Amino acid sequence: MRGQKLNIVVLISGRGSNMENLARHSTHFSINGVVCNNPDAPGLEIAHSLGLKTISISKTTTLKAQKAEIYECVRSLKPDLIVLAGFMQILEPEFVSDFLGRIINIHPSLLPKYPGLHTHQRAIDAGDTSHGCSVHIVDSGIDTGPVIAQAAVEVKSCDTADSLQKKVLVKEHKIYPWVINSIGAGEIKIEVDDLNKKIYTRYSNLVYKEATELNFCLPER
Ligand code: GAR
Repeated sequence: MRGQKLNIVVLISGRGSNMENLARHSTHFSINGVVCNNPDAPGLEIAHSLGLKTISISKTTTLKAQKAEIYECVRSLKPDLIVLAGFMQILEPEFVSDFLGRIINIHPSLLPKYPGLHTHQRAIDAGDTSHGCSVHIVDSGIDTGPVIAQAAVEVKSCDTADSLQKKVLVKEHKIYPWVINSIGAGEIKIEVDDLNKKIYTRYSNLVYKEATELNFCLPER
């Protein structure tokens, strides 16, 4: 186990329920800052009320200028890990490359199914019987990076996009702190082959055991 807690910075754009849930389940990590690209995000108030360092960076001139300001702010917080939690802005390739293997995201689908938006409705429209969420490492694509872990829910014939969203969110709130605590405890390791720009994940036996108990899916060994 690491001597010091993993220092994370959480990026949000809206409601902030994953950020709040992470703050309440931070055993092996600490939140060094919450950075938001939307001044009206309800999550900002929540972060502030939790006593977290909260920085809102709105778009005053161009999107490019806003992104540059966000990246400078994140860099200044010196994170071990950048955690996207409902951050609805595409990261620039250069920033991703600088932090390759150190940015993770939670996405409301069982990737590689349904990258992008409206995932719950798309799962219903496709007649899927199973849906869920994925925690994955961010690469230069949109929701394309290697999956760390997934949690599934059953899609029932009575489900709507809204009911499915609520069921998936319950799973998000279980799996995201579990993954980040496991990284903080050194039980999940993310390794980058700098030469080939490839990212690998390694899991301890404890992680395999806990994933089975918690009904989470890990990539095949
Ligand atoms: C969550 O469902 C998260 O999976 C999703 O936005 C929501 C944010 O909720 N993220 C994406 O769609 C990213 N592609 P929250 O603000 O309450 O955490």
